[in-house]
Amino acid sequence: MTFPARFLWGTATAAHQVEGNNVASDFWVLENAPGSSFAEPSGDACDQYRLYRQDLALLKELGFTSYRFSIEWARVEPEDGRFSYAAIAHYRDVLEACHELGLVPHVTLHHFTSPRWLMRLGGWEWEGTPERFAAYCRLVMSELGPLIPYVCTINEANIAPLIRSLRPAKDETDTSHAPVGIDDTMGDLFGGGFKTAAAELGTTPEELHVFLFTDSEAGAAVVKQAHIAARRAVREASPDTQVGFTLAISDLQALPGGEETADRLWAEQVGDFLTVTDGDDFLGVQNYTRALVAADGIQPQPEGAELTQLGYEFCPEALEGALRRAAGAGLPLIVTENGVSTTDDSRRTEFMRRALEGVERCLADGIDVRGYYYWSALDNFEWMLGYRPQFGLVAVDRATQRREVKDSARYLGEIARRNAL
Ligand code: BGC
Repeated sequence: MTFPARFLWGTATAAHQVEGNNVASDFWVLENAPGSSFAEPSGDACDQYRLYRQDLALLKELGFTSYRFSIEWARVEPEDGRFSYAAIAHYRDVLEACHELGLVPHVTLHHFTSPRWLMRLGGWEWEGTPERFAAYCRLVMSELGPLIPYVCTINEANIAPLIRSLRPAKDETDTSHAPVGIDDTMGDLFGGGFKTAAAELGTTPEELHVFLFTDSEAGAAVVKQAHIAARRAVREASPDTQVGFTLAISDLQALPGGEETADRLWAEQVGDFLTVTDGDDFLGVQNYTRALVAADGIQPQPEGAELTQLGYEFCPEALEGALRRAAGAGLPLIVTENGVSTTDDSRRTEFMRRALEGVERCLADGIDVRGYYYWSALDNFEWMLGYRPQFGLVAVDRATQRREVKDSARYLGEIARRNAL
């Protein structure tokens, strides 16, 4: 079976995870604060701010047709209301390089990191954030819109409630969290480093509302409003750009008797955010694993299950489940992220093959899937976990910034070239 014509074959990255030295961002402060719970700071990352041409040329040569990357708000607006036209010029160069090479750019306007100054004002619980975010989006799209065919306003708009669901439950009655006893891979996010970071960001730990960790109703409302305001800005500034956002969608598989709980978790984790997609052109689906759900909540992983470096169950079929359920949103779907962290590259190839077979089955059933982006192009900065997890199709020697293509990159690139498995 061949994939539809113009199916987007790409890899994905995010500015903070690959560019390096994102010093005006909130995460830079969190990572570098004394006592930080981050494994290490992002530092130079993969130096993609400098090496983007080389990376883009490599991806093109491998066979890819598209590249998903993010524009960094903290670079474009390092101080409240002060825009950097040098940063805009940089991203214009990146976009032009994509077009010259024949890679369709898929731009994310917010991928977890925010400017430091936003934290002082109340971050992702502040009711003024949607308008501030939209002003930045308006500027980017009026300057660069004609070069941007696809734009995602916010990456994983629902990540905060999802992270909560992965954290250990407080007790047996707490069914929206991971089962009691599961390892908390995130560590103590709100430990000592968080307090010093809050002080440096001009706020208190209680009032520090970083995008990734703001799990409250007020926070969810701000994120949803920010998407609506950003979509409006994109439409006004660049009417030809396709706009949407992406959601983290775990495949919630109900065990017998767990159907109602699975439906409730879906409503909390995903459904709540689908209420603001009216007027979007696509929905980005980001899937990494499944969760088994019984009546009393998410269950531990099956005995003996193969686990990834992040402790997720190795389950490429989860993408199909996520797509089938997301199809209910009634929007064209794009797999904006799917991937696996492993030191054994042959498992990555296996993961992609089985995940893509699931995409084929969805297409055969008439589900409108328009692209597949593997996370990630490069081994990069995996947030709190630092550089240990290896998601990349391309390895990076961070001392020399030399890239080394893995077999899995050639495998997926060849599929892209043939537009068929
Ligand atoms: C995020 C990426 C992250 C990846 C792997 C997604 O939640 O969008 O930034 O690196 O998952 O954990």
